Amino acid sequence: MDWRLGMVAFVVGQFGLVGVGCAPDGTPPSRLAARTVPTVDKATLDACMVCHSTKEMQRGPVLDGLPAWYLEAQLKKFQTGQRGKNPKNKAEQLMGAAMSKIKTDTELTALAVHFGKLKPKPSLRVIRGDVATGRALYATRCASCHGDKGEGKRELNSPPVNVQEDWFLMDQLRKYASGQRGVHPGDAGGVLMKAAAANLSSTDLRNVVAYIAKNLTVTPPLQKVGPPKK
Ligand code: HEC
Ligand code: HEC
Repeated sequence: MDWRLGMVAFVVGQFGLVGVGCAPDGTPPSRLAARTVPTVDKATLDACMVCHSTKEMQRGPVLDGLPAWYLEAQLKKFQTGQRGKNPKNKAEQLMGAAMSKIKTDTELTALAVHFGKLKPKPSLRVIRGDVATGRALYATRCASCHGDKGEGKRELNSPPVNVQEDWFLMDQLRKYASGQRGVHPGDAGGVLMKAAAANLSSTDLRNVVAYIAKNLTVTPPLQKVGPPKK
């Protein structure tokens, strides 16, 4: 089974909800359709897409292809104020305010399942760095939690890093490194990741992101010629 369907199945199992695709026991979609499928309210989704599509200049990350378990966990962090309340992180505060669009926990889970089922989107590569140095850094500093292929590790609450746009990876790494993310004491995963980014310079971060974008990201770059390789 595709790992992303596996993740959806995990969420489905945990919350008694049903996504599209085969159940863990291989039940075909036609049989699943008979059970309740949580639908995402169109108005809510439209509100999310104001910031989470590729159409806006000033925007949040593309969420497509991140696993439902991770999206749900992050939405809960915004809901409880573990993210979105740090005055140093203006982008996160925007997202914190947007949480008022989500009315119920069922809707929150349905949104996570919705984005988790979408295919990752090809993106422009905009981060330049030394790929060889980044590769070595990734192997020693990141792979243990995010996997050799950047596929993430559910058991460590470690998301994949091979589906997001490179600017967003860079942006979030800078935020962990500078105390804009992973600072809430209740945010165990964030605190762990903050420690992992702690003593890396911005050159280190650029190198590791350039490596991820070139070698691990599952979608091709949108441009024909990427940032120059050194
Ligand atoms: C006003 C713009 C805005 C709206 C509306 C908005 N978001 Fe966001 N969202 C953001 C920004 C900006 C970030 C990145 C925050 C940061 O940089 O720390 C974000 C981050 C997220 C993340 C975390 C992604 C990650 O990889 O850490 C999730 C999940 C998310 N949004 C889901 C949603 C959903 C679901 C909706 C609709 C209910 C929504 N957002 C509406 C701006 C918005
Ligand atoms: C000890 C385990 C661990 C190590 C080592 C680690 N990470 Fe993480 N990482 C995590 C966890 C857990 C999260 C989720 C944190 C959260 O919920 O805020 C995360 C989140 C991230 C995110 C945010 C993804 C998103 O969609 O918002 C990025 C980017 C990232 N890690 C990159 C890296 C890179 C690059 C390295 C190596 C320099 C690294 N991580 C090392 C555990 C780790």
